[in-house]
Amino acid sequence: MQDILTLGIETSCDETSAAVVLNGREVLSNVISSQIDIHKKFGGVVPEVASRKHVEAVSNVIQEAVDKAGVGFKDIDVVAATYGPGLVGALLVGLSTAKGLALSLNKPFVGVNHIEGHVSANYIAHKGLKPPFTCLIVSGGHTHLVYVKGYGEYEILGRTRDDAAGEAYDKVARAIGLGYPGGPLIDKLARKGNRYAIDFPRVYLEEDSFDFSFSGLKSAVLNYLNKMKMQGIEVNRADVAASFQQSVVEVLSEKAVRAVKYKNSKTLCLAGGVAANTALREELERKCSMEEIEFLYPPVVLCTDNAAMIACAGYYEYINGRISKLSLNAIPSLKI
Ligand code: KG4
Ligand code: ZN
Repeated sequence: MQDILTLGIETSCDETSAAVVLNGREVLSNVISSQIDIHKKFGGVVPEVASRKHVEAVSNVIQEAVDKAGVGFKDIDVVAATYGPGLVGALLVGLSTAKGLALSLNKPFVGVNHIEGHVSANYIAHKGLKPPFTCLIVSGGHTHLVYVKGYGEYEILGRTRDDAAGEAYDKVARAIGLGYPGGPLIDKLARKGNRYAIDFPRVYLEEDSFDFSFSGLKSAVLNYLNKMKMQGIEVNRADVAASFQQSVVEVLSEKAVRAVKYKNSKTLCLAGGVAANTALREELERKCSMEEIEFLYPPVVLCTDNAAMIACAGYYEYINGRISKLSLNAIPSLKI
């Protein structure tokens, strides 16, 4: 088969990113321009600010990605962009830019589901990985346990019924006075704390359920902090971070391993921003080695939002004949 160069564009939240990927898995460039420093001041992403910052950055980021890849626009075979889920204004920037580029280059355009993008980061990191496998997707907006039957084919085993795992990290981080995004900060602080210091609840739901719920845990942490404040007791923030994280990690890893066994699959992949979490990686590593399950995860730069994963997912859509119309709209609540 002839070589295929995919230009990927990602603007679903607060990262403006563009990447050039060869044959779906070889990253020639992956430029990520983060807006975190701007949103930090507000304690979270401000949608309108995000859209405007994407407009300012997107052209330069794309140009840089093409230059860094050592190619020209004329060499691009497919243009892929995230069309959901995400913030509508933010999505529209990358989506419209990608469509305009595809039109002017006279090349196919492929709309990519952001969650599928996260799964696909594993294809880039592990060249031999092929479906089927089980995947735990944990990000700021999503928590899913899926069985990947084929490229772009998913069986949903479970999902969160309320907060996403990353959302819980960010909210708890805010409550204990850490900055935004909270996940990496809790991860770091938790290393200095005792994970068994506070007995926060583990929410498993029904016995055979693969669904998740993190809002009760978040409330338990907030209640604990309030109680301590009322009693004038200073909390040990590292212990709170470590104990909260332990609850999240135990539940995520128990359900993920049970899902692998349920599907009789041999491999578990981790995806999404929370996949960068060191405690989650360690616990899954431990549990999977006990059960002789192959455990794979992407490097941190491919866990959080980036366009290389979008280019990879777009490539598989393209070679499987799924090309999008130029009338494709942004879908903020797109499902996997
Ligand atoms: O995948 P992502 O970049 O964006 C979404 O699609 O949502 O995920 C961002 C989320 C944030 O909630 C952030 O706090 C969390 O991933 N995160 C982490 C870590 N790094 C990022 N959570 C826990 N531990 C980390 N090391
Ligand atoms: Zn994401």
